[in-house]
Amino acid sequence: MFGAEDTVLQVDNEEWLSEPREVEDLPLPHDFLWGTATAAYQIEGGASQDNKGKSIWDTFSHLEPSRTNGANGDVACDHYNRVAEDVDLMASYGVDTYRFSISWSRVIPFGGRDDTVNEDGVLFYNKLVDLLLSRKIIPIVTLYHWDAPQELYDRYGAFLNTSEFRADFERFARLCFSRFGDRVTKWVTFNEPYIISIFGHHSGVLAPGHNAASGHDTRTEPWRVGHTIIVSHAAAVHIYATEFQPTQNGSITIVLNGHFYEPWDANSIEHQAGAQRRLEFYIGWFADPIFLGTDYPAEMRARLGSRLPEFSPDEMALLRNTASTNAYYGMNHYSTKFARALPDPPVEDDCTGNVEELATNNKGKMVGPVSGMAWLRVAPDGFRKLLNWVWNRYHLPIVITENGCPCPGESNMSLEQAINDDFRVGYFGLYLDAISRAIYEDGVPVHGYCAWSLMDNFEWSAGYSARYGITHVDYDTLLRTPKKSALYLKRTFNERRKKH
Ligand code: NOJ
Repeated sequence: MFGAEDTVLQVDNEEWLSEPREVEDLPLPHDFLWGTATAAYQIEGGASQDNKGKSIWDTFSHLEPSRTNGANGDVACDHYNRVAEDVDLMASYGVDTYRFSISWSRVIPFGGRDDTVNEDGVLFYNKLVDLLLSRKIIPIVTLYHWDAPQELYDRYGAFLNTSEFRADFERFARLCFSRFGDRVTKWVTFNEPYIISIFGHHSGVLAPGHNAASGHDTRTEPWRVGHTIIVSHAAAVHIYATEFQPTQNGSITIVLNGHFYEPWDANSIEHQAGAQRRLEFYIGWFADPIFLGTDYPAEMRARLGSRLPEFSPDEMALLRNTASTNAYYGMNHYSTKFARALPDPPVEDDCTGNVEELATNNKGKMVGPVSGMAWLRVAPDGFRKLLNWVWNRYHLPIVITENGCPCPGESNMSLEQAINDDFRVGYFGLYLDAISRAIYEDGVPVHGYCAWSLMDNFEWSAGYSARYGITHVDYDTLLRTPKKSALYLKRTFNERRKKH
């Protein structure tokens, strides 16, 4: 299979759509950027240090520990106090770039447009940016990676109030552009709006945990949340383009996640259409208005009717004006699933386009070997197809802003076992080969790649039980130990870029 010592959990009688290939270390462009990614709540800790305000993740993990596997981010990797060590670590991996997020409630504890700025918080990110630049590492900075100030939900329901949230987000964005934009030139507004909307306001498995059981209207909430994100993104892009870009010369975009969907029955027109619809309900939902400056996909309008908000004429004009300012398509991608079209009518609060997601197709085949997360299977061919799908629809260069996996059984491994992460090496190797094929065989412009993640960290509802890091973190001592995959990435990027 792949990797030197293969650690794939061999599940008896499991069949895959296609047998995984050997890693070929295929070439990448000489100026291809690579790096690692993290997010504030997942690594920083220092939850109430230096006047940081509470975010919805502080609340959620403490009020409902059962929803985060009993864990919280109070300490996490203690990156807040070990930032210099962590920058040294990534410099030793030879990264070109590092994608991290700013904790909104660390820099504006109550989050609102009239609330006080916490200079200690600003100082922390200034220090991080300066350390990165001193090591020639380009920062890619995400403004919002899921940790809304709690106060914004308490005051007006945060994303559920578009105009209030937009005004507060504009202030936060402006603060970041003005305080860090002299040195930070690569901005991302939101990370994974799909997850914020659906997992936060439909299934409720992530903060703030809104779902039907907690009395929320899951027919409309996720679409209202998505709408707020799209409009707030465009507003921040407009601010950046008009007030900052002329002097700072940087770029801005959004990061969208999405699986690729193979039809459950490859020979059925109905399931092919189902797979396409699922992609539109997942990705087109955000990408059509943001990158094309158009309305939501027609299938969404037709199926969701009045559940889906309308863009006002002003909002539509904002989207049209900002669409081409987005510098590239930021893609978080991990795996592929099967999509089976269900018979209409859908359930009342359907958010899928009436398509069921399955791990197996009609022949009982899986997309590929399973990682340490049941939903995350190794499927580089799906990745290549998604790169093509995105390029054909949006015609924008693509940067992979996250990709990675936990190894099977990794959470219960000794340090020795965990750092010999051949499964992850194989996953990275095959996914990088898929990028190479997309670039050279299909003509898709992919410009960079951030591995998720620099180090093991707080994996939201899984707590500390899922380890995605290329660096092992001992949560008792907080000691960092590079895994084999970190050394593989360093070597393979050097070699692949020389081949071109
Ligand atoms: C997506 C998210 O952006 C990140 O926070 C998360 O840890 C990874 N995927 C892995 O699930």
